[in-house]
Amino acid sequence: MEPFCLVDPEKLRNPFPDYEYYRREKPVFFYEPMNAWFVFRYADVDKLFHDERLSNNRMTGYVPSALPAYREALEWLFSNYFRHWLLSLDGEAHRRLRRQLQPHFSERAVAAWVPVIEQTTHQLLDRVAGQGHMDFSLDFAYELPVLVISSILGVPAGEQRRIIKWSDHLANYFNVIPATEQTSSEMVESTREMIDYLENLLQQRRKEPREDLFSAMAANDLEDAVIVANAMVLLVAGHETTRNLMGSCLSLLLRNPDQLERLRGDMTLLPRAVEETLRMEPANPIMARLIAEDFEYQGAALQKGQLLFLGIGSANRDPEFVADPERFDIGRKPGKHLGFGSGPHFCIGSILAKREATIALRELLTRFPNLRSNGPEEWTTQAGMRGPLRLPVALQ
Ligand code: HEM
Repeated sequence: MEPFCLVDPEKLRNPFPDYEYYRREKPVFFYEPMNAWFVFRYADVDKLFHDERLSNNRMTGYVPSALPAYREALEWLFSNYFRHWLLSLDGEAHRRLRRQLQPHFSERAVAAWVPVIEQTTHQLLDRVAGQGHMDFSLDFAYELPVLVISSILGVPAGEQRRIIKWSDHLANYFNVIPATEQTSSEMVESTREMIDYLENLLQQRRKEPREDLFSAMAANDLEDAVIVANAMVLLVAGHETTRNLMGSCLSLLLRNPDQLERLRGDMTLLPRAVEETLRMEPANPIMARLIAEDFEYQGAALQKGQLLFLGIGSANRDPEFVADPERFDIGRKPGKHLGFGSGPHFCIGSILAKREATIALRELLTRFPNLRSNGPEEWTTQAGMRGPLRLPVALQ
């Protein structure tokens, strides 16, 4: 099974046969070049999401494997900003910050954003309707989520291009393993720019608060670095993943015409189609943890300081979890897939992401009843982020 599927761009186009092998033969796998563990079975991934011997302060785990020229810059970013991310906190510190942010992403809060999501969806579709075709990824999926999360946070309109660039660079650093010269330099440069930008915006909001999440965080007595760090994480997490969810869902429907037809016949199945996409093609196929103390797991000696990657993409296709896992079936009773993680760090934006995807696909399929594929798709080849980069469709 060489090379290891998660570090090989060719295999990452279709990692599923290798996932099947690892689930069967090496469910707890040590990948020596990275000094890191990978876990592939559903039962293990779900259990380890709740294991307190694993810490979310995983960023420190990336420092030893960083390229030497970037180690100092990374340490500075980690210790001043990334360690404040909601995603990086453990225990009481995590619970405290999560309690402050959660209400902004509740069912009720998201319902208030529905008109903005619908209006933005219409505008984006109006833009392409006349030309009769579009690249769903580039022309739509890359646009909607960043506009929505920017509105929620209160980042002014017109900044979306820069935000996409910054967050692509930040996310790529963690999603391409191991890190390369390019992912390292782009991440360091973009993150510095993003921090400067957000610090500036924070000072403006402190002087003149508005009705946005940025101002709400400022009013909550949080330190500047904590606010900037979490604005950064919301901007990145709020759109990188959601755009892939929308693209993957449309791609799966186009590749499974019987399911597309079934959906067109009963659009109430759409939320299930979105859930089934999160199961089959989770935008984050792996999620990292830092091993916080030495312990033995299924005969493997896990050592403090090593990284352990939870294989969400593999777990969701484990036949011990669902029957006939390789089949895209929009009528499936939703089980507890791990597409949004599990346990204390379960995705805070899950309601928002599902609502955006459902509105977008509902409008798209209703407005263009003859929509069909219009050329080859191109997908990411990253270990930590999966979805279509190009998804050409004909609209008429
Ligand atoms: C399809 C879309 C999405 C997917 C697949 C996804 C996936 C995930 C996963 C797997 C986790 C768990 C991380 C862990 O265990 O370490 C997570 C956490 C998180 N997500 Fe999402 N996410 C999505 C959309 C969003 C959106 C729209 C937001 C913005 C509000 C968001 C913000 C976050 C945050 C802040 C966390 C950290 C929660 C915590 O540590 O308590 N996500 N997400």
